[in-house]
Amino acid sequence: MSQILSICVSRISEVACSISLGDIKVKNGKILLSCARPVPSKRRSCYVRCQQTSRIQEILGKDGNGAATDVAEVFNLNSKNIVAERVLTEPVERKSKAGSHEDNKASTEQVERKSRAASQEDSRTLTEQVERKSRAASHEDSRNSTEQVERKSRAASHEDSRNLTEQVERKSRTASHEDSYLEKQARDLLRAGAGSYEEDGSFESEAWTLLRAAVVNYCGSPIGTIAANDPLDPDTLNYDQVFIRDFIPSGIAFLLKGEYDIVRNFILHTLQLQSWEKTMDCHSPGQGLMPASFKVRTVPRDGDDTATEDILDPDFGEAAIGRVAPVDSGLWWIILLRAYVKSSGDLSVQERTDVQTGIKMILKLCLADGFDMFPTLLVTDGSCMIDRRMGIHGHPLEIQALFYSALRCAREMLTLGDGSAGLIRALNNRLIALSFHIREYYWIDMKKLNEIYRYKTEEYSYDAVNKFNIYPDQISPWLVEWMPDRGGYFIGNLQPAHMDFRFFSLGNFWSIITNLATREQSDAVLDFVEAKWNDLVSDMPFKICYPALEGQEWQIITGSDPKNTPWSYHNGGAWPTLLWQLTVACIKMNRPELARKAVGVAEKRLSKDRWPEYYDTKRARFIGKQAHLYQTWSIAGYLVSKLLLRNPEAAKILTCEEDMELLDECNCLLEANPKRKRGRKKSSKSYIV
Ligand code: GLC
Repeated sequence: MSQILSICVSRISEVACSISLGDIKVKNGKILLSCARPVPSKRRSCYVRCQQTSRIQEILGKDGNGAATDVAEVFNLNSKNIVAERVLTEPVERKSKAGSHEDNKASTEQVERKSRAASQEDSRTLTEQVERKSRAASHEDSRNSTEQVERKSRAASHEDSRNLTEQVERKSRTASHEDSYLEKQARDLLRAGAGSYEEDGSFESEAWTLLRAAVVNYCGSPIGTIAANDPLDPDTLNYDQVFIRDFIPSGIAFLLKGEYDIVRNFILHTLQLQSWEKTMDCHSPGQGLMPASFKVRTVPRDGDDTATEDILDPDFGEAAIGRVAPVDSGLWWIILLRAYVKSSGDLSVQERTDVQTGIKMILKLCLADGFDMFPTLLVTDGSCMIDRRMGIHGHPLEIQALFYSALRCAREMLTLGDGSAGLIRALNNRLIALSFHIREYYWIDMKKLNEIYRYKTEEYSYDAVNKFNIYPDQISPWLVEWMPDRGGYFIGNLQPAHMDFRFFSLGNFWSIITNLATREQSDAVLDFVEAKWNDLVSDMPFKICYPALEGQEWQIITGSDPKNTPWSYHNGGAWPTLLWQLTVACIKMNRPELARKAVGVAEKRLSKDRWPEYYDTKRARFIGKQAHLYQTWSIAGYLVSKLLLRNPEAAKILTCEEDMELLDECNCLLEANPKRKRGRKKSSKSYIV
């Protein structure tokens, strides 16, 4: 039985409130602390600090080593119970409470031995163990450090105390040569804190446990999942936020499991952020912009010192590294909304006036007239999953595929009336022009490459074949080598005099899923994936892009970005989350065995490597240099793949089929192609087609 009588709960916002505890129980490897009165905050991740240090010193001995400065992370915080991930104090039986230094040391070692041999119940005590280990390594040193932490943490804010404890942890890690032991403890601890496995033993059940541990609550209800949830990583940066794009696989996993609430809450609450005031150096982006991410903050309620309330704190790119605008967020939001409606059958959400307005605001932003000649969406570098400079400004495939998908989904959900007819017309026109443009100009295979190789340039006429004035020299040697006889893919970007021939996986998978690609093209992309398995999958699915930018190209295009060095991160790294998109594409094309093979490769390492964000090297052999561990979308991506492979029908909540009316229109445009005959049918709006 834990000896704690009272704890102090502090939130990231540094607001603290005391909770008198009633019952303290240990259940399923978790400490359940029943609160005497309801906990006002529903924040998932709080930091708990022992308040009654004197009482704890009494328990642990006068030197005060240990528990007084322990910090515990709380996993689920509902109104009555707190489930502590780390134990604040544990039932330590000591030889002597106020014994000699020697005695204390012996006692510490005894506890340490005990805790190594102990059950999973004991393994939760990571912080204590780290401290004990560091005591063993350097008793004096660590004692000073602990005392210092203790002194400081009493005075400092809770944020500070968290940092200090992390410092102690870091220090201890350096002192100790048994990191892997600790890491195992951390892993057990995560599992223990999150509850027992849903289905014992399998990677899948581990993944569910971890996914649930990443859930964030807002006003008492689940609203999203944080990007990464690694208990040993002090450098969370913004990975403790809910990213819109990162939440998609989590949301889909919950939908597939029949747990609709979290997705419903996510949709309705993020909707409110759309019209948030957002500025960057006095400039405001369009109203329909959705944030890249948001955080739940708990703040004191106005005029009441004892009460707190939860608020949402969005980031539209004003704080993001490089100030990148998250163009994909709104598109993903629409896609997830449609998946929610399709799987839950709950039409009431899409029919709500605020939801209809939300859809329209996103569409208006995307369909707004500008200077662009192309039907593709013009965006800056870093506006999607690749949110750093990688030379994808212009018309990157990923955004185009998501744009097309969002238009298709929106068309299904928009209710007629209230002036929506004009919007639907604009939307249809854009769909036709967009699919034509991508199918025709982004597609490459051996045949098309050969055509480009023989292009004439500087054609000034309406009937030019080489419309974008592509110089054949752009076909790099790697591409000639790389292109298999069978298969093809959509290139990464198309601009005047510029074809970015790199293979970007998300855009290609999503083109299949949403039917931006024709049937033949979709099959050819999967043929390509099969043919290039060793380059695109190798030791971990799936390369975000291929090949990597190297040498001078890397210097010029990425701005010498040290995170995006060749074959790392966005520059040719492998991202396990992409597994779910590959799976949906394979299922749609009735080739699930390909996805199964990829899942098999992932299973060899994902859990063992602690669910990394990404992998490095040409063959994806290393865990990414700066990869976060327990990355939620790696976990959720794996789950979605498993669930869908068991129930392929469910993939329909994400896929779109060929729209025959659109196809007819598109065929008219194709026939009007100058290679055949020009000017057969006129679209009501003129784009380059
Ligand atoms: C990285 C990824 C981005 C993701 C974020 C959070 O910045 O590039 O796509 O949303 O991490 O996981």
